[in-house]
Amino acid sequence: MNGLPPVASGSRGGNTPRAVPLFLTLEGIEGCGKSTQAARIAAHLRGKGTEIVVTREPGGTEVTAQIRSLLADPRSNLDPSAELLLFMADRAQHVASVILPALDSGKTVICDRYSDSTMAYQGYGRGHDLAWLEELNLFASRGVVPDLTLWIDCEVRVGLGRAKTRSGGPGDRFEAEPLAFHERIRNGFVALHSAHPERIVRIEGNAAEDAVTLACIAAVEAGLAAAAASPAAESGTGAGTESSAPARRAHPRR
Ligand code: TYD
Repeated sequence: MNGLPPVASGSRGGNTPRAVPLFLTLEGIEGCGKSTQAARIAAHLRGKGTEIVVTREPGGTEVTAQIRSLLADPRSNLDPSAELLLFMADRAQHVASVILPALDSGKTVICDRYSDSTMAYQGYGRGHDLAWLEELNLFASRGVVPDLTLWIDCEVRVGLGRAKTRSGGPGDRFEAEPLAFHERIRNGFVALHSAHPERIVRIEGNAAEDAVTLACIAAVEAGLAAAAASPAAESGTGAGTESSAPARRAHPRR
């Protein structure tokens, strides 16, 4: 890609930092441009020689492609609790068969939507209890929390407009929801960002696509530099080492 910032040297005290794989998630409302940005970030990191797995929720595995179809189909008359549990089943399978194996083998994972979408959509959107959703998220994800989350924030009308143009019709079950539902989702992301400022970075998503890419890559480079400089990385117990896996799985399975 053109116009990207130079690869961060990340040097600290003259030492070359160890390469630290990240678990990076992208979040936002419908049509905010996450998928385009995920592909561009992946291209940038691959250009630096980083091994990347790009994946998504729902439907990031062969098995869960069927769950994704059920969730997206406007003809699925899903009860909100059934919807929530399908997302949880999707996540459990995805973490177990794609995300954890990739992280354990030292790859960086870029995931298009993850647990913050559950908080925003099923919590703020559908009204499920937020504290309970956090527990469920931890259970389904085996306590695997992203190192960095890019929230691409764009106006609801802009995002929905793009999503509807893309689908060429009323769109999937979520896109067909009323404007007020999508406003609640966006407000949810605002609240999640305030609650987790150390993890969630807001990216201005109303800007032109290339400007959004520059902002995403700057945030990823800052995240990588911070991870490389962390004491865990220096002592060999941080992300990207064999021993990082237990830390990521700190939450007990129930
Ligand atoms: P998708 O077509 O991937 O939408 P997008 O391109 O906007 O990411 O459909 C995924 C839909 O699932 C999206 O509307 C958000 C919703 N979703 C939830 O409601 N809860 C979740 O936990 C996840 C992961 C997604």
